[in-house]
Amino acid sequence: MRLFPKKPNKLKYSLTSDNQFNALRKKEFSRLDSLGQTYLDYTGGNLHPKSLLSDHYNLLQKSILGNPHSTNPSSQMATKLVEEARKKILSFFNADDYYCIFTPNASGALKIVGECYPFEDNGHFLLLSDNHNSVNGIREYCKSKGGDYTYSPIFQSDLRIDEDKLMENITSFGVKKNKLFGFPAQSNVSGVKHDWKWVKTAKGNGWDVLLDAAAFVPTCKLDLKKVQPDFVSVSFYKIFGFPTGIGCLLVKKDSFPKLKKHWFAGGTVDYVSVKKSNHLLIANHERFENGTINYLDIPAIKLGLDFIESIGIDNIRKRIVELTQLFLTEMSQLKHDNGIPVVRIFGPLNTENRGGTVIMNFQDKDGKTFPFDWIENQANKKLISIRSGCFCNPGIDEVNHCVSNEEMTKFYSSRKDQSFDSSTNYLKYMSQQIGRMRGATRVSFGIATNTKDIETFVNFASKLKNKSISIVDELKGEGMLN
Ligand SMILES: Cc1ncc(COP(=O)(O)O)c(C=O)c1O
Repeated sequence: MRLFPKKPNKLKYSLTSDNQFNALRKKEFSRLDSLGQTYLDYTGGNLHPKSLLSDHYNLLQKSILGNPHSTNPSSQMATKLVEEARKKILSFFNADDYYCIFTPNASGALKIVGECYPFEDNGHFLLLSDNHNSVNGIREYCKSKGGDYTYSPIFQSDLRIDEDKLMENITSFGVKKNKLFGFPAQSNVSGVKHDWKWVKTAKGNGWDVLLDAAAFVPTCKLDLKKVQPDFVSVSFYKIFGFPTGIGCLLVKKDSFPKLKKHWFAGGTVDYVSVKKSNHLLIANHERFENGTINYLDIPAIKLGLDFIESIGIDNIRKRIVELTQLFLTEMSQLKHDNGIPVVRIFGPLNTENRGGTVIMNFQDKDGKTFPFDWIENQANKKLISIRSGCFCNPGIDEVNHCVSNEEMTKFYSSRKDQSFDSSTNYLKYMSQQIGRMRGATRVSFGIATNTKDIETFVNFASKLKNKSISIVDELKGEGMLN
């Protein structure tokens, strides 16, 4: 039996945003249709529009670009294009009182904050348990500099902030001098948009604020005149797909002196002496741009942001709301004949303060969870790109699967001396150890998503209706079937 009809379905649903975005799909992303692929991993990375590649190609073809920071004409041209891109970024985020530091990605931006924040001087790091590992990892810088860190919880019911606990944490640690609070504007896993008010509240209580905007800015306006965190991390491929390898750290000019850089590299200094241990770091963003920046790709950032502006970021936001609403409605209606839902969605089931990222587990007719990697494998066979696991955000997974402190302590102490075999799937291994499934399946929507993509996924999921987990052969040998 064919799981899918040979010919692509006609569009089954219609949305008010279809006119604009179906035309965009045809013009810029028709490769999805010609290759018969369904792409649902926009939080992983956006797809590049066709015109961005040709605009960038044309720019490179007609320019002589040399290593910046010299007076020769090729260098001057590269510097001009890089500075135009920087200016465009600042204007896109309404951030004229910020520095824009080019980095390899959002993680590179977060690394600068971790490395340079003065945790060594009576420091503390407060962070939500909903954070990408590139924010979680800053705790290691904090620890190694003698500081301490605290996680503030989210609720299991809706994966939103436990506001009482966060308030309690924000108003604690009064004796600390250098306090950094880190949270994501939008969760890369649940899609929850955390409230901006925490930037102001934390700052009012003496905290510096690190806003990880990587998952938020592809589909929403970030206006840094309205919300003024000290540090903001961004990856550009998540906004318009090309180029990969460029992100930025936006640093509020007032907070710039707070970041203490402990070394120097080419391009970051006004002078260095070899005879004497003397150097002077450049007094602006260049201090953090080590070595030669990616001067051939950076000009594409301006073109990419122009592209997003030509669509309108608010139109993109509305489109994502419509798609997410459709998805949540359709998936919630999908049930086995005995009434058990085919998917268990984690996080909010409506579109209020949430973006177009949804995580779920697939359940069999008895409510048992299908392994996430098996689901991904089935999707792969249908050329559907989804993502599965814990998405570099272990905090959410621990909440979703009610993993207790005791279980984690037991798990880690039981394998203290064992090195982990990297060919083993860590989450699967842990699922076996604690006796229940961990991990989830994630889908996410973006500018190129259409209703047919959603229909394809709903059809895919509906093939599991009335199925039992016993169809997953590999589970039998792993003791996960009882
Ligand atoms: C919220 C969030 N923060 C940080 C990152 C890290 O981004 P990158 O891998 O581009 O450094 C991601 C990537 O998915 C993310 O979604």
